[in-house]
Amino acid sequence: MRKPLSMIAGAVALGLVLAGCSSTPSSDPDNADQVEVFTWWASGSEKVGLDALVGVFNEQNPDIEFINASVAGGAGSNAKAALASRLESNDPPDTFQAHAGAELTDYINAGQLQDLSSFYQENGLTDVFPESLIERITVDGAIYSVPSNIHRANVVWANTQVLEDAGIDPMAAPADIDAWLVDLKKLKDAGVETPLALGTEWTQMQLFENVLIADLGAEGYSGLWTGDTSWDDAGVETAIGHYGELLEYTNSDFAGLDWDAATQIVLDGNAAYNVMGDWAESAFQQAGWTYDNEYTTWATPGTDGVFDFLADSFTLSVGAPHEAAAIDWLTTISSAEGQKAFNLAKGSIPARTDTVAADYPAYQQTAITSFGEDTVVSSLAHGAAASIAWSGDISSAIGKFGADRDAASLLSGLVAAADKAQG
Ligand code: GAL
Repeated sequence: MRKPLSMIAGAVALGLVLAGCSSTPSSDPDNADQVEVFTWWASGSEKVGLDALVGVFNEQNPDIEFINASVAGGAGSNAKAALASRLESNDPPDTFQAHAGAELTDYINAGQLQDLSSFYQENGLTDVFPESLIERITVDGAIYSVPSNIHRANVVWANTQVLEDAGIDPMAAPADIDAWLVDLKKLKDAGVETPLALGTEWTQMQLFENVLIADLGAEGYSGLWTGDTSWDDAGVETAIGHYGELLEYTNSDFAGLDWDAATQIVLDGNAAYNVMGDWAESAFQQAGWTYDNEYTTWATPGTDGVFDFLADSFTLSVGAPHEAAAIDWLTTISSAEGQKAFNLAKGSIPARTDTVAADYPAYQQTAITSFGEDTVVSSLAHGAAASIAWSGDISSAIGKFGADRDAASLLSGLVAAADKAQG
């Protein structure tokens, strides 16, 4: 039903007035009672996660004003460039979100982060985070950030009704990509036009990394980042072939959708599957769906026994205008209370090892078990595996393939990106 124009004009005017009243406070370097926090959790279920963390921070620090410097765009697709230009022009936020691993190393090597080793010592933090995670945030013996969570990136989110309607058992995960392609075809034949929901470039890169893990195995995939696996390995070619076949089952408008819009296609019953990190759990929770009832998850076919890892970590910028308040923020993040409130809302699991699995809903319990037992590999799309420059080159090659489906050109693009990064 169309709304009369006068109503629309009224709503716009009201919106402008409200926006004027609630203008976001800005960071004032002379006001010590502020902290400016930079993330890309600007809206939807991600903002709900950030709000939960801010809730604990406000309780613990009632006199400090939280300045939200978020920049919208999943996986930091816009935020990282915005942050780079702030850092370049000597206007750092007090603390910013960065992925543990190679991406964080970029900032450390650029001299943009303060050493937090003494903060770790004073708060006994080396004992509360897993060693494998501490390694990914350490350079030359110094620790440079505080992890807020651990996300898993090799998860298929499945709409059980859509699968049952096509005669597929939603609880039975296909063994590998080939078996999955059989089910995708079954869905298409049953009239589901786009069985696999997909989104913009970084979500394509994440799907591709899942296929690489499936086809190369955990060791072969990890070798891509150390030089032990060559990018012209036959397994990479197989993965490109599989990835191209998977694209045939996706929504044609994927290039324009962020992850939440792609996940929404599954929620709307117009797709059976979405391969997404477990921030999607938060979207299913907020839709009121019950695990193993309206939706279920399994490891992406061919990656069972592997945990594709990433972690959001918070830094202390060199030249942070509100250093003491930023340390208070990091204290909240490192606390058991902060991690619990945040991760319950975010879909991830706490980075702290003193987590009580029973406190978390069903999906997160599967992630806690998998992280404890499975082989952990580093996510490409989320900064753990490769530097920002290298993953940017890979992302462009994959985005181009989404448009031209030229397998040879994708392979040569990947090889060239690796040559450039690894020298
Ligand atoms: C990841 C980030 C997650 C989530 C996701 C989608 O890179 O680590 O916390 O926000 O992007 O935006």
